Amino acid sequence: MTDETALPDTSPEPPRETAVDLRREMADSGVQDILDQLDRDLIGLKPVKQRLREIAALLVVEKARQRLGLAHDTPTLHMSFTGNPGTGKTTVAMRMASILHGLGYIRRDHVVTATRDDLVGQYIGHTAPKTKEILKKAMGGVLFIDEAYYLYRPENERDYGQEAIEILLQVMENQRDDLVVILAGYGDRMDKFFASNPGFRSRIAHHIDFPDYGEEELFAIARHMLDDMNYHLTPAAETALAEYIALRRAQPHFANARSLRNALDRARLRQAKRIFETAQGPVDADALSAIDAADIRASRVFSGGLDAQPSSGDRP
Ligand SMILES: Nc1ncnc2c1ncn2[C@@H]1O[C@H](COP(=O)(O)OP(=O)(O)O)[C@@H](O)[C@H]1O
Ligand SMILES: [Mg+2]
Repeated sequence: MTDETALPDTSPEPPRETAVDLRREMADSGVQDILDQLDRDLIGLKPVKQRLREIAALLVVEKARQRLGLAHDTPTLHMSFTGNPGTGKTTVAMRMASILHGLGYIRRDHVVTATRDDLVGQYIGHTAPKTKEILKKAMGGVLFIDEAYYLYRPENERDYGQEAIEILLQVMENQRDDLVVILAGYGDRMDKFFASNPGFRSRIAHHIDFPDYGEEELFAIARHMLDDMNYHLTPAAETALAEYIALRRAQPHFANARSLRNALDRARLRQAKRIFETAQGPVDADALSAIDAADIRASRVFSGGLDAQPSSGDRP
């Protein structure tokens, strides 16, 4: 006769988790590295960085709560990023995807960017397949909808945007454990959009506002960009760039860091032309990487004109 209960269990259950080391979770997931790198790579953006740290902490805590049996539902992770063009929204969305992926909230470290044109068709019956196609591409990762408010055109009674909105809302609700949607655009237009589309507002867990950069931040951003490309400013060029920033910032269609990137691209073109025209014999690394005052002062901004702007210049 055997008495099953008399024998001690020789294969004990794994010990039930009773505590989670949050700092270690943050480090092991790679999220601490992403946050540290973001601190280094992005100039300024203090409030944005602060919000990202808070959201990351919340997500780590939420995972820990799930493991200890305190939470069951997937938290809502959809977000809105508001701010003027060139304030870093797209850049931060990429980092956000890495954070969400590091913590296991999405399967893929992957962002699909879409605007109204990618989601809404021109003819009847075209919108649903277009929207679904984009959703399929983004599934498992992040869908970043730039200038989301263009989806809603109340002045046009039979606008197909409405169809895309309805599909998006449904997926944001039903598939929120497999897709994070980030809506981006100008703050005031986004406010109006949310007011007319409360379904979006109620599905968004985190709103992050991206402030415009000050002159000194723009200068530091430009320097950082040049440094990344192995260029540098001569002392005279530094003065010229500071003046350029003050003038350019006051002009229409100013797009923060994006305008600076465009200005630096043009400065590099002028530098190359200058080197070709003036170099006698071989040129050294220093000559090839120095941006001089003339490369900056040739901009139309100094003669009271507008600098050339690519069409995306006034996109948020
Ligand atoms: N704080 C920052 N520091 C360094 N570079 C920045 C910063 N913000 C934006 N940039 C750069 O400026 C450009 C435009 O940024 P982006 O994220 O596309 O802005 P947005 O999506 O808000 O229009 C990118 O090349 C980005 O790397
Ligand atoms: Mg953008």
